[in-house]
Amino acid sequence: MDLGIAGKTALVAASTGGLGLAVARALAAEGARVAITGRRRELAEKIAAQLPGAVAVEVDLSAPDGAASAVERTEELLGPVDILVLNGPGPKPGAAASMDAGDFTAALDLLVRPHHGLISKVLPGMRERRWGRVLAIGSSGVVAPLPNLAVSNTGRAALAAYLKTLAAEVALDSVTVNLLLPGRIATDRVAELDHAAAKRRGVTVTDIERESLKTIPVRRYGNPEEFGATAAFLCSAPASYVTGVALRCDGGLIRSL
Ligand SMILES: NC(=O)c1ccc[n+]([C@@H]2O[C@H](COP(=O)([O-])OP(=O)(O)OC[C@H]3O[C@@H](n4cnc5c(N)ncnc54)[C@H](OP(=O)(O)O)[C@@H]3O)[C@@H](O)[C@H]2O)c1
Repeated sequence: MDLGIAGKTALVAASTGGLGLAVARALAAEGARVAITGRRRELAEKIAAQLPGAVAVEVDLSAPDGAASAVERTEELLGPVDILVLNGPGPKPGAAASMDAGDFTAALDLLVRPHHGLISKVLPGMRERRWGRVLAIGSSGVVAPLPNLAVSNTGRAALAAYLKTLAAEVALDSVTVNLLLPGRIATDRVAELDHAAAKRRGVTVTDIERESLKTIPVRRYGNPEEFGATAAFLCSAPASYVTGVALRCDGGLIRSL
């Protein structure tokens, strides 16, 4: 299938590693010109040099002007953004019962504010040109809140509600807005979480993985490439009638319909 995005400009937030990098690679393979973004400038440059038409944009999305500067630099190098992929670091774990007012602010600061900043900068242009794709990388916690990830569950649910509202507002301008929800995709972050869990509980990493795999019907973690391919479809021209959805890429982990 031709995804119809050759020559489109894509800004992929937090794409020097993990899921963001997998999405950037999948979009570049379809001919999109991708801005690889992250705090590690040299790594972004190394990745961009390996992908046709890609450029590196150093950015700290947690900085007050991070989102705005990422869009400005991308547009200087590649022109107006047609495809925006929202992604960023996950918050620290913690229980809902111990959340204080600062944690609620942190949830919004980390998981909504930078994404809103990026959207605000690119949306007027997408609407004017009557074509755009906004895709946010979320978490299965949006559908089934994850234990001990209260800040993440809270912030991601807020982002999901915002995006769903936005999807209807911009639909007539041929801009789609969707969420892609990873279950457990084998990235550095998931490996770190498994190591931390093993240390905390005094068991081996293999024990943790085995326990985790029992909950996933396909009995394995997802490959970043599988996640990237799903994201590329949601950012494609043929996906023009898919908007306002939260699609799970989780090997069947979440059991609800
Ligand atoms: N992997 C999964 O199965 C899974 C499941 C559920 C949810 N998620 C969520 O999906 C997101 C991505 O996860 P991942 O597994 O791909 O994580 P990862 O492997 O740790 O990659 C994180 C990426 O974020 C970038 N980053 C971190 N802080 C940044 C900042 N302040 N500004 C700009 N870029 C920043 C990092 O690059 P630099 O270091 O260069 O900045 C890196 O490219 C996270 O929010 C995670 O919680 C992942």
